[in-house]
Amino acid sequence: MAVIDFHSHILPGIDDGSKNTEMSMEMLRMASEQGVDVMLATSHFYASRHRIEDFLARRQRAYERLAAVKKDFGPELRLGAEVAFFSGMSRADRLDDLTIEGSRALLLEMPFGPWNRSDIREVETLIRKREFQVILAHLERYMGMSENKKWIEELLEMPLYVQINAESLLGWRRRRPLIKLFEKGQAHFLGSDCHRVERREPNLGKGRAVLEKKLGKAFINAMDDRGSRLLRIGGETDV
Ligand SMILES: [Fe+2]
Repeated sequence: MAVIDFHSHILPGIDDGSKNTEMSMEMLRMASEQGVDVMLATSHFYASRHRIEDFLARRQRAYERLAAVKKDFGPELRLGAEVAFFSGMSRADRLDDLTIEGSRALLLEMPFGPWNRSDIREVETLIRKREFQVILAHLERYMGMSENKKWIEELLEMPLYVQINAESLLGWRRRRPLIKLFEKGQAHFLGSDCHRVERREPNLGKGRAVLEKKLGKAFINAMDDRGSRLLRIGGETDV
């Protein structure tokens, strides 16, 4: 059972996250001090800007640059992507290459504008036909948009996972509805969504501390266990 940061921009020089290997190393040090065992390296993927093969090659080079300095230090890295939603994605053959390494989990970033029925059907197809284990990235960032309320409710009925940013649990006013989501089993995992060092920094430990205070140690253990199974970490099998 591992402490997993489900969302990060730790790889250097590939997106708007870490600028270079030094910054990535500092971020890894911070995560390590917070007890993170595994960090998912979920660099942004936009189908409108990237060809999958180019993205994969750039991601591999960024990973190798970091791995050469990191060696065995700090959290283990698992390659993945934060895949921005696009129409037609459920028919994109190579989507399989964007899952979190060693699993069927796909971290999906929904659009920041109003959604529509066909968007929701597309997510459903990813789950039911393509058999991805969809993880919705930082769902709380969409919860303030009244147009999307009904669509969020539909998504939450589906067999998918919801990732919340640790940062969102730090303000007492924002945290209340999110704690409820975790409590009801409608939110599942935490991510730091870390981009750099001074702000949007690795802060998984702070988010976990809030969850533990509100929902107890057994809840945190169950979350870690479920995450480890989903990602097949430590020889554990699928959820
Ligand atoms: Fe992100």
